[in-house]
Parts: sequence; C-alpha cells; structure tokens
Amino acid sequence: MEKFVIEGGRPLKGEIRVSGSKNATLPILAATLLTDGVCEIRNVPKLRDTWTMCKLLRTLGKTVEISGNKVTISGSANTPVADYKLVSTMRGSFCVLGPLLAKLGKAKVSMPGGCVIGVRPIDLHLKGILALGAKADFEAGNVIASASKLKGAQMYLGGTFGSSVLATANVMMAAALAHGETIIESAACEPEIEDLGSFLSAMGAKIEGQGTPRIVINGVRKLHGVSYRIGSDRIEAGTFLLMAAAVKSDILVKDVQYNHLLALIDKLSYTGVRVDKDGSDIRIRCKKILKPANVVTHPHPGFPTDLQAQYMALMAITPGVSIVTDRVFPDRFMHIAELNRMGAQIRRDTGSAIIEGVRQLYGAPVMASDLRASAALVIAGLVAKGKTEIHRIYHLDRGYEDLDQKLIQLGAKVFREKD
Ligand code: EPZ
Repeated sequence: MEKFVIEGGRPLKGEIRVSGSKNATLPILAATLLTDGVCEIRNVPKLRDTWTMCKLLRTLGKTVEISGNKVTISGSANTPVADYKLVSTMRGSFCVLGPLLAKLGKAKVSMPGGCVIGVRPIDLHLKGILALGAKADFEAGNVIASASKLKGAQMYLGGTFGSSVLATANVMMAAALAHGETIIESAACEPEIEDLGSFLSAMGAKIEGQGTPRIVINGVRKLHGVSYRIGSDRIEAGTFLLMAAAVKSDILVKDVQYNHLLALIDKLSYTGVRVDKDGSDIRIRCKKILKPANVVTHPHPGFPTDLQAQYMALMAITPGVSIVTDRVFPDRFMHIAELNRMGAQIRRDTGSAIIEGVRQLYGAPVMASDLRASAALVIAGLVAKGKTEIHRIYHLDRGYEDLDQKLIQLGAKVFREKD
C-alpha cells in the first residue's frame, strides 16, 4: 500500500492539463462489446478503474491492447458472464449489462451492492431493460438478463434521487441494437452521457438528444468499429479549481469544457473566487478570504455530487457557517470525520453537513475512503499547517491520473511513499 505525504501551506502556481474523463471512459469501453470491429479509443486516463474495465473486457472475450493513453479493442464477446471479482471491485462495471444483453441476448452480471458513498440500487437499470423486452432473474447476487430480441420502447427513467447516469448508459447501449425506436424520458444529462452518445453515433448508432432529459434511439442491425477521443474529466478539473481556491492561488487548468462546470463556477464566483474562461482552459484566481455559501447537489446540470467532498474541504477553512446537502448520495459524508481530525468543525444535522469555517487546519495522519473523499483530504492537506499523511491512496489512483505529479508541477510538496 502507498501513502501521500503532503507539506501544507504552500500556494499553487502554473498550469496543469486535465486527463480524459474516467466516468466517460467506463461506459465507452463497455460499449465496444456492441461491435466485433476495431475500436481505437484515445485520451483514456491511466487509472485503476480503466485497467479493471480492460481486464473485464478480456474475460468477456475481447482483445484489448493498451499503449499509454490509447486503448485498442477488437474481437467478439464470447461469454455473457461478467467476472464477479472484477465487478465487485468497481460498481461502474455494471454498465456491461446493456451491451452484453444487446450483443449476446444474455448477460450475467453481479449486482453492485453498496459502497462507502451509499447503497447502489439497480431498479432503474432493470426497469429499462425490462421495458425493452428482456427478462431478468436473480441468482447468488447476480442479475441474469436474457432477451431473444430487444424491442424499442418509451420509458421514464427518473428515480427517487433523480436520473441515473449508468442506468441511462445501459439502456442507450441496449437500445442501440434493439428493433425500433426507444425514447428515454428523464435520462441523465451528464456530459459523460453526451460523450457515450457521440461514441455510439460514431459506431453507426442512431441517437439524438444525448445530454438532454429526452434521448431517442432508433435501433440498427450492426455497429462498426471507430476511432474516438474521450472528453476531458470535469470532476478532475473541478477538483483542481477547488484546490486553487483553498490555497488562495492563481492557476490555469487546461483542456476543460467551461460549460460542464457552470454550477461549480457559479458557486465559486459567489464566494469571491475569480474564474475566467480562457479558450479551452480555465484561469482561476483567489487571493482573498472567501465568504461561505451553501450547496445542495443534484444531477447535472446541478452541483455535482462528485465535487461535494472537495467543496466541503474549501468551506472548512472559509470563515462563517455553510451547509452542504447531498441529494444524490445522502450519506456521502465519509470525509467529515477525517476533516475534523485535521481541525475542521463539521457536524451532521438532519441529512446535511453544517460547516463552521476555521482559521487553520493542522496536518495529521488520515485515511482515504472513497475516491472523492480522498480528494477532499488532499485539499485539506495542501492548506493545513504541517505534514499530512493520507493512507490507502489506491482510492485516489482509481480516479485521478498522476495526481501527485500534477500537484508537484503546481509547486505543491507531495511525496508518494510506501505505507
Ligand atoms: C455515476 O454513478 C458515477 N460513476 C458516480 O461517480 C457519480 O457519483 C454518479 O453517477 C452520480 O453522478 C460512474 O459514472 C462510473 P447514478 P452511477 O445511478 O451511475 C440512485 C465517482 O466518484 N439510483 O447516477 O452508479 C442512486 O442510488 C463516482 O467518480 C437508483 O435509485 O450513479 C443515486 O442516489 C462515484 N436506482 C442516484 O440514483 C438505480 O437503478 C444517482 O446514481 C440507479 C441509481
């Protein structure tokens, strides 16, 4: 195991380039199951989660060649059974369900179960594939779905907590090879769904409306191979903007889609941070003490749940009281205890976190838990007085490519060490 050792209190300066989006990469890699053609995918982030999905595709019969940030996938899926060990290490791999069902008429995928950010239900995934005419059974923790022929259908995919990103992805991929027209109402609007829709269209799928709450797919008989570049990771970009705001710095974040981060930028501007679009880059300047601002997370285009923990780290050192509520994953507060160990004053109250900003955080040994909670601890470590050790940083390596290198490039004192 490895840890990060961070010497806090140093400003950041310079520029970093954001990597390809992890959450676009996973469904796009899964979508290659829909064709026997060669798919060349570029700007793939080198992450544990990427390699887990590549391993899963190999167990399903695909040939996967990795060269730097390029992954070339060919061959045919020859089994509908997704390996339990791999799926249980990464909830996101549940998105092989739709493409396996569409390509092979059958899929056996282990249910994602729960994780530290909360329960990961699959009712919307099942509602979608059943609407397309599939049957679904459960056996020993697996979903076993089958369909002699998938038929297009109109469906409403909004759930208790709003739209579902990967349920939308599963249905888009299954519908791409179904007979007839599928209309998904209350589809997820995340940029990662837009990216998946563009990838499927490039493979020859007939898709409209990706990125809006209504997606229309007309099934085709066959999809072909494609060469495609993954879009940049808006959550990594947002994490760096929040880092710069926390350490009162001026940095340039390169290769970002400004319009993917409007909710965060709006909130940061309200607190007093200066954020400017600079072509395909974002310049952030933060010199003064900020004012607190409440946040409630929502599905896109609302404030992203994947930036909630990082935002809380910023509010922890912003004088005044702020309230953070996560409407997407209401229990996604693993980071509170660890931030408090560094001197933050955060408490939970009726489903929200109440943050009383303090003047100073103090370095301490802390434990990473989920990917974004770990990013919040990195932010806290950068602003804290003294040394912070973040243990179990494999959580970070799941979703941030070369994070320590990027931080060192910005002038931070971060060391990756054996734990
Ligand atoms: C995706 O997960 C992301 N993961 C998550 O990012 C992200 O937090 C989440 O979307 C929300 O934006 C990937 O894309 C690989 P959901 P997903 O289905 O699709 C409920 C990260 O840190 N729900 O959109 O699994 C669910 O409980 C990860 O990069 C149902 O009720 O999330 C949640 O409350 C963490 N029924 C809400 O919907 C279902 O069938 C949104 O979940 C499915 C979900």
